[in-house]
Amino acid sequence: MKPYDQTARTEEEIRAAVDALMAQMTLEEKIGQLVQSPGPATSEIGMDIDSDPLEDLIRQGRIGSTIFLGEVFQTVKDIEKLQRIAVEESRLHIPLLFCQDIIHGYQTIFPIPLAWSCSFDLPAIEKAAHIAAAEASCAGLHVAFSPMVDVAHDPRWGRVAEGAGEDPYLASLVGQAIIRGFQGKNLFDRDSVMACVKHFLGYAAAEGGRDYNTAEFSETALRNTYLPPFKAAVEAGCASLMTSFNLVNGVPSVANRPLCHDLLRQELGFDGLIISDYNAVAELLNHGAAEDEADAARRSLLATLDVEMATDFYNRHLPGLIREGKVDAALVDDAVRRVLTFKYRTGLMEDPYRYLRPEELRERVLCKEHLAHSRKLAQESIVLLKNENHTLPLSREKKVALVGPTADSLDMGGCWQFTSFPERMVTIRQGLEDAGFAVNYEKGCDIHQMIEGGMENACAAVYESDVCVLCLGEESLMNGESASRQSIALPQAQLDLLEAVAACEKPVILLLTNGRPLLLGEVLPQADAVLETWFLGHEAGHAICDVLLGDCEPTGRLTMSFPAAQGQIPVYYNHMNTGRPHPRGVPYIRFESNYMDGPNEPLLPFGYGLSYTTFSYGEITLSQDTLTKEGSLTASVCVTNTGDRTGTTLCQLYLRDVAASIARPVQELKGFESVTLAPGESRRVSFVIGEPMLRFYNAEKQYVSEPGRFEVMIGMDSEEALSRSRSFRLV
Ligand code: GLC
Repeated sequence: MKPYDQTARTEEEIRAAVDALMAQMTLEEKIGQLVQSPGPATSEIGMDIDSDPLEDLIRQGRIGSTIFLGEVFQTVKDIEKLQRIAVEESRLHIPLLFCQDIIHGYQTIFPIPLAWSCSFDLPAIEKAAHIAAAEASCAGLHVAFSPMVDVAHDPRWGRVAEGAGEDPYLASLVGQAIIRGFQGKNLFDRDSVMACVKHFLGYAAAEGGRDYNTAEFSETALRNTYLPPFKAAVEAGCASLMTSFNLVNGVPSVANRPLCHDLLRQELGFDGLIISDYNAVAELLNHGAAEDEADAARRSLLATLDVEMATDFYNRHLPGLIREGKVDAALVDDAVRRVLTFKYRTGLMEDPYRYLRPEELRERVLCKEHLAHSRKLAQESIVLLKNENHTLPLSREKKVALVGPTADSLDMGGCWQFTSFPERMVTIRQGLEDAGFAVNYEKGCDIHQMIEGGMENACAAVYESDVCVLCLGEESLMNGESASRQSIALPQAQLDLLEAVAACEKPVILLLTNGRPLLLGEVLPQADAVLETWFLGHEAGHAICDVLLGDCEPTGRLTMSFPAAQGQIPVYYNHMNTGRPHPRGVPYIRFESNYMDGPNEPLLPFGYGLSYTTFSYGEITLSQDTLTKEGSLTASVCVTNTGDRTGTTLCQLYLRDVAASIARPVQELKGFESVTLAPGESRRVSFVIGEPMLRFYNAEKQYVSEPGRFEVMIGMDSEEALSRSRSFRLV
């Protein structure tokens, strides 16, 4: 018999049950619910598990949740063991929440988020998240530390791999899709997990692209660039949120009451769990934003942090602070109420073992359906960057030299994935061989260094073949957390291999496996065709081959600009015009905002991607040229497939608020539609524009639209769309 109502289901019943349980809890037991252990396998930094064995802490009721990372089928057993200790050996028998980073798949791995964002396929991304939840929940995991929605402008920052690129609107939609996929209709559903949107906020603005570095931005940039995806996540009912490591207006997010309480909870109405990032409470001392551990705990609680991850300053210092009257006990009660509410909403209070389903786990992990969806999303994540001389699609008749360090590499999963089946990744070589190619394979070089005789052997293979499929890129460890690079160029050994292969004067098809925009200015000219294939997960080789052979079209579009030069960084499409704008394609003009030694524009812009056919876009028509607050207008273009094979174009809608109380970006993505057309076929694509799309945060932090002139641009990518625009007035 548990000392609490196990059957509370409605919000009213849960409120009553939580109050009744809290009335029995000691202060230490309450605070214990707010402490998250790094778990048995993740204590590189933070809480010292050896001195406080996790199982003892659980028995004493001093742990409310834990990160869990382990071999998938052992996880079920170990989670059950720890849950039994919590439920059967602690005084109040309160179950634990088990958490893990589930960023692009749990066991079946999907393309990295920067890749799948290039699909612009929100239902497919949602389904990938649902599949991840269906697998992870069977292992007994309840919280996924995802979606990561940090709007990123700097490819030196390794974590651009985890997000949806440089656009707040797309990051908002992708984040909402992932939350829907994870949480489904109801957290009580056993195939759902709690989402945890992160990192709140502005983490990607780290100076120099150096992880954990200072991020400085104005209030209007905070609200118009970094906040929108979190606002969207709150509107989507995201169950939890993780604070970021960086300062916001001088205060680390985790202890930032104006940010987390005033803005997030009061203004946006977030009533979910706020979880710190790993060790972030302790890092207040490094930031110089807390006197000592007790002060760090106090400031975090004041900011309404609910769950301290990986350290236990809450356990060690809050009881004393409260007893000395230095912290209001009501703040602890508020946090505990939120934690227990989610333990009820997930059904754990009714049955702490309800998610543990080892048999279903075995059936689901890497099952045919899950792999099929991973392959589909991988196909849609691939971006065709160049295709001259009709090099692609590749004919099955061709003799192929397969060259490069990523050609036969199992490292296709990318960063932030913990599958127990890395050996099941499909290599590019396997993909080609499964498609019937007898490839002539030579590695040529490693990721970072030459191989003795490698270049010579590669060239010999190329000379014997009709075409070279050259596979270059990064290794997973070069992306993700703590993976900032000063140079985003391919390693020199690979550039040397490219040069040698190009000199063989056979067609070169370059496949890039990477987790960030790379410097391709010197690379693109040396290949006849280039596919950006990112890290595509378990079905990488099959998906790449599907596109190589034209069994499916390349439909991906870049969600992050590729710089023309390192010195351009940060370079992104939705920039401000400045007081001295420099016209595109014009050489240096003194006293304008431009470089003496290169262009302002990126090599490849946001929204860019080619197809195996070609398209033309007609002029924009507007249903009217004025828009009232209550009304709407329709902007449309006629799109034609001008090529000789069926293809898909992503028709993109951009708006510009030409003049407002604060400067506004020269372009903002506000809509997109994927259109598949047969050769010669035309279709009119329409977008309905309403006043809500025109809103932004003004200098007074009001979310408003302002009357005046707006430009509408529609095109194949952000740059091409500039070539056709019409204006309307909001009245
Ligand atoms: C890491 C990351 C965060 C992750 C957490 C738990 O430091 O910043 O994204 O969810 O710790 O692993």
